[in-house]
Amino acid sequence: MALDSGLDLFNGARSRRPRVGVLTHGSLGQGVEMKLDPARPVETVRAGTFVVVEGERFDFFSLITDLKIEAANEAILLHPPGEDDELLRRVLQGSGTYATVALRPMLMLARDGDEREAPQPVRTVPAHFSAVSEATDDDVARVFGAEANDPKRYFAVGTPLGMEAPVCLDLHRFVERSNAVFGKTGTGKSFLTRLLLCGTIRTGRAVNLVFDMHNEYGFKAPQEAPDGAAAPFVPGLKQLFGPKVQIFSLDPESTRRRGASPDVEVHLYADQVEPEDVLPLRETLNLTATATESTYQLKKHFGERWLPALLRTEAAEIEHIAESTGTHPGSLSALKRKLDRLDGLPFFHLDASAGRRDVLDELLAALEGGKSVVFEFGRYNSLLVYLLVANVLTRRLRDHYERRHEVYERTQDEADRPPQLLITIEEAHKFLGPETARETPFGKIAREMRKFSVSLLIVDQRPSGIDEEVLSQIGTRIVAQLSDERDLNAVLVGTPAAGGLRQILAALDSRQQALAFGHAFPMPITIRTRSYDAAFFEAMAGSLPGERSAEAVRAETDALF
Ligand SMILES: Nc1ncnc2c1ncn2[C@@H]1O[C@H](COP(=O)(O)OP(=O)(O)OP(=O)(O)O)[C@@H](O)[C@H]1O
Ligand SMILES: [Mg+2]
Repeated sequence: MALDSGLDLFNGARSRRPRVGVLTHGSLGQGVEMKLDPARPVETVRAGTFVVVEGERFDFFSLITDLKIEAANEAILLHPPGEDDELLRRVLQGSGTYATVALRPMLMLARDGDEREAPQPVRTVPAHFSAVSEATDDDVARVFGAEANDPKRYFAVGTPLGMEAPVCLDLHRFVERSNAVFGKTGTGKSFLTRLLLCGTIRTGRAVNLVFDMHNEYGFKAPQEAPDGAAAPFVPGLKQLFGPKVQIFSLDPESTRRRGASPDVEVHLYADQVEPEDVLPLRETLNLTATATESTYQLKKHFGERWLPALLRTEAAEIEHIAESTGTHPGSLSALKRKLDRLDGLPFFHLDASAGRRDVLDELLAALEGGKSVVFEFGRYNSLLVYLLVANVLTRRLRDHYERRHEVYERTQDEADRPPQLLITIEEAHKFLGPETARETPFGKIAREMRKFSVSLLIVDQRPSGIDEEVLSQIGTRIVAQLSDERDLNAVLVGTPAAGGLRQILAALDSRQQALAFGHAFPMPITIRTRSYDAAFFEAMAGSLPGERSAEAVRAETDALF
């Protein structure tokens, strides 16, 4: 007993963290509970805050998951203080009435251990009456790493609730698996995605292929004028990283109108389209299963020119084609009618015209050269074009990567290893729905491409539309506010301690705030996402080898406004 209280005194003296409460209940499975210090108004405590439970032997890095107000005695609640009885209310506070706070310990670290030791998964519970304290900047750096320690590995993505210390993402782990940014519209997904892309480009951890449906990653991107922001635009990746980023455009005119010229003008040829590229369009084009399946029969009959053949067929000849290919005439004409929309788009060619350049070759040349590619759709950003083009390219890219990897496995020569590739898709549920995820190249990448050095960055506002198996393969998730129950459940698929995290998700602000968890974060953490502003642009310039100077970046960004 004497020993115990001696230890408490010692711990108390050693602790430098501001105290918020004291531990009262808990279990390893369900998390622990503390009584809030009476001096702390309950309304200042927020779900998602990062705190430390200072046990006897371990510090437990924890998140606040829930709050409750309670009374020691029911009689108090039967006779609450009168409206003007501020004094009685204050007297009761902390003794008669009090607040309890539910915490979820996420990691633990021996209190007298080596400074460099990494925190461990939680395997025990802190003792009764352990102090619960605010985390310090040191704690944040200890758990999440610091850019200064390894600038090619750690990348600051935000700050914990109520703190200024940077929370870093482990980029090495991030690019290893597929990842996701979820949140409803206007929560800051695209801004956050741009930040993440900056991290991978700047450190060279991965080359990127961004399917930029809304033209907001390459050159300047529009910004909703928030509090005090002067400019309606922010710079894109090209302004920040210059030649390290290549713009491929389906609509060069639109790119030019926005004051820039694309590096590559993209053309798509009808004979590059395979039946499995059309399969994921079923819902978007409102086609029957029979209609999409008939693409396979067409392929069998016409070979790789099945699509040019279909699009060239006159309506009167459909019956005839249906007969010779063994397809249903109604389905076939429905398919033709829907795909006819492609014919006439300036980038789409039925003929293998002279001077044909395969965009895959140009794409591979850029990626192999260590460059990231932003694929702009300009005005041609209908779902039909977006899904089709992204599927065609990704399927072929995936085949290429698979072959490259076989060579590398044979030779084991680092020079043969293809560069780590991260493919970003917005509206991801359109590619990864339960009916199509098995067939699309994106579904295959999400499930198995980790071993081939390709991963996805999924950006979506409707995670519940994504196949469960794909969801469970996602390594790192950064989730902003969501309001649909099904979406909240979907983002937590396959996550331990999902119960506590759900409360935190429900308490997020509507903008620039997110819960980050998974493979690249040692523990879940609620962050205010790093601002994509002048200070950030400055930070992206200069300090790593091959980087553009701060002056060059400033000149580019100034020229925007
Ligand atoms: N990290 C950030 N830095 C600066 N501004 C931000 C940041 N995050 C969000 N914002 C502000 O919030 C607005 C909406 O963000 P964004 O366009 O990324 O939302 P979104 O989730 O992609 O929406 P949608 O689903 O409609 O595409 C931005 O225009 C910007 O003003
Ligand atoms: Mg967006």
